[in-house]
Amino acid sequence: MSDNVSGSICPPEVHVDNMTFQVLFSPEEIRQRVQELGAEISRRYDGLNPILMVVLNGSFIFASDLMRSLDIACEVDFIKISSYGNEMTSSGEIKMKKDYDALVKGRHLLVIEDIVDSGLSLQFLKRKFELQDPSSVAFVTLLHKPENSRLDFKLDFVGFDIGSEFVLGYGLDYQQNWRNLPAVYVRREEAGEPDASSGNTV
Ligand code: IMP
Ligand code: MG
Repeated sequence: MSDNVSGSICPPEVHVDNMTFQVLFSPEEIRQRVQELGAEISRRYDGLNPILMVVLNGSFIFASDLMRSLDIACEVDFIKISSYGNEMTSSGEIKMKKDYDALVKGRHLLVIEDIVDSGLSLQFLKRKFELQDPSSVAFVTLLHKPENSRLDFKLDFVGFDIGSEFVLGYGLDYQQNWRNLPAVYVRREEAGEPDASSGNTV
């Protein structure tokens, strides 16, 4: 069976590989929360000229909306890492796929993530950036799975806390697909199915 999206631009359900995903956060809910985060971040970083460090691939859509909700001077740079490969769960091993260019010594860094699951990616990035002697390193994520994450530091800005179910859309992929969906979707568990907390991500 081929994957398909039926209905309008924001379909209520998406059918992928015999799984059904339903809307968890609508485009309007996301827009509102991004505006709130933007206002909070603008207040916190006013006059500090932060570097927004976008963690590719998943956070590119969130980052572009968040950045446009800021009313302060800021720079942007990109880093690409992967922790999942093509497996259904995190490999636990972080690989650098593309390094950033900015000189971060003495600068305020705000790392932008799409979702914090195990937290291993952010632990890795925090260590990496701190070695470069920035003035500060903080983290904003659209989504956080607190039941799964084993971070030994606090996230600075969180859009939404969610359960441990697999989600896609608004930049988040399932086997590299469906990042284009304008809402965040969560897998609907069907009766008699194993758990829904798996998928492939980068
Ligand atoms: P962590 O290192 O386990 O926190 O994983 C972080 C990365 O895995 C995120 O930046 C996402 O790219 C990806 N990821 C984790 N959970 C999901 C999910 O439910 N859907 C899609 N991608 C996910
Ligand atoms: Mg990510």
